[in-house]
Amino acid sequence: MQKTLNIITENVGQIRPDSVDEYIKIGGFEALKKAITMHPLEVIEEIKKSKLQGRGGAAYPTGIKWEQAYYVDKNPKYIICNADEGEPGTFKDKVILDYLPLRLIEGMTIAAYILKSPKGFIYIRGEYPESQRIVSSAIKEAEKMGYLGDDILGTGFSFHIEVLSGAGAYVCGENSALVESSEGKSGRPRIKPPFIKNSGYLGMPTLVNNVETFACVPYIVKEGGEKFAGYGTEFSGGTKLVCLSGNVKNRGVYEVPFGTTLRELIYDIGGGLPEGRKLKFVQLGGSSGPCIPESMLDIKICYKDLKVKGLTLGSGAILVVDDSNCIIDFLKCITEFFYHESCGKCTPCREGNKQLLALVNKFINGSATYNDLETIKKVGQIMKEAAFCGLGETAATAHLSLIKYFEEEFVEHINKKCRANICNFGGDKDGKR
Ligand SMILES: Cc1cc2nc3c(=O)[nH]c(=O)nc-3n(C[C@H](O)[C@H](O)[C@H](O)COP(=O)(O)O)c2cc1C
Ligand code: SF4
Repeated sequence: MQKTLNIITENVGQIRPDSVDEYIKIGGFEALKKAITMHPLEVIEEIKKSKLQGRGGAAYPTGIKWEQAYYVDKNPKYIICNADEGEPGTFKDKVILDYLPLRLIEGMTIAAYILKSPKGFIYIRGEYPESQRIVSSAIKEAEKMGYLGDDILGTGFSFHIEVLSGAGAYVCGENSALVESSEGKSGRPRIKPPFIKNSGYLGMPTLVNNVETFACVPYIVKEGGEKFAGYGTEFSGGTKLVCLSGNVKNRGVYEVPFGTTLRELIYDIGGGLPEGRKLKFVQLGGSSGPCIPESMLDIKICYKDLKVKGLTLGSGAILVVDDSNCIIDFLKCITEFFYHESCGKCTPCREGNKQLLALVNKFINGSATYNDLETIKKVGQIMKEAAFCGLGETAATAHLSLIKYFEEEFVEHINKKCRANICNFGGDKDGKR
């Protein structure tokens, strides 16, 4: 199997990102030209054949999502591209935004054509001002050249895209909070139903997809769904952009076919760990994802294979952690992140994160008991089952998985021992060292 591929990232860095002429030279907008000659349901059929699943984290089948949106009998319909990219360790959408924004714009325009949508938004995280500038410029250039805006390619169909800026809240990546924030309100998740596919932006049907998801569409339309699917596994079509970070030699964004194992990714593509270091665990999918030990590295990057093991790939972040790190110290960073990012709307998440932080700090400062270990498990489980949105549901995933695979290190901390020699147990009650 080829180690890395360039299906979505073809010609990355080789053209000026906002140059329509240069994009056309590499086959740009051919998919849009083809799509407007097809029936919308034919395009949707190709997406279904491609086995594309949403790349934003939830892995919902894109063809089905588009088909559901197509059959909603209410207009106008809106398209939102989720470029909030707030998950720690995730930086793959930035590659498309900065180097291939016209591929994203083409994918969105195909979606708009199918749904007869007059308006779309690209909601880009506030921490990416340069990406906002590049994407805005690409939108203007595409409009000038007739691929976007009024009367696209002389079809009489018009579609306009506006760039919206996030303001730094992780929860705004959740699709209903994204819609609230796009409307100019405080970004908090909505009660569902109604689902945003029926009642989203301004109460109208709204299709939300991730940047990478939209960027897959031109290839699928141009080359056919089956060809795209053929790069992946039986259950996960195509390729995935993964963000390899942490204690690994070659950190970065790689496009890999589904079916690549984590071991191949870390050792063959990533070059392994720095000399003298041993892999302790890998966290999949960012801070909201599970941590797994070295013995599980032969698992394939495939939504189904991971699901069978109770794991998720999330947005594609893969963090390598070596044996010089302390599990509790690592958890402290994660817990502080979720404590800070909880929007406070529901009790399990608001109070649960506060409790988790207090408990983790007890392990850091040497005052934790066996009871505290049990309480982390209980609080984490309650959050998973009772939180209102995905943020609270997954905030304790790292805690629960680390306890599952490395419980002995929690016990060592109860006995005031830290095998990484990071926790000196002399800190104050808040765990400050
Ligand atoms: C707390 C939270 C944060 C999220 N952040 C993002 C994000 O930054 N980008 C993204 O595409 N999806 C994010 N999602 C997932 C979205 O809710 C949604 O599933 C996704 O944008 C749908 O697009 P897709 O089907 O193309 O994956 C987040 C979900 C949750 C619960
Ligand atoms: S789970 Fe957390 S982020 Fe989500 S609504 Fe509840 S408090 Fe807000």
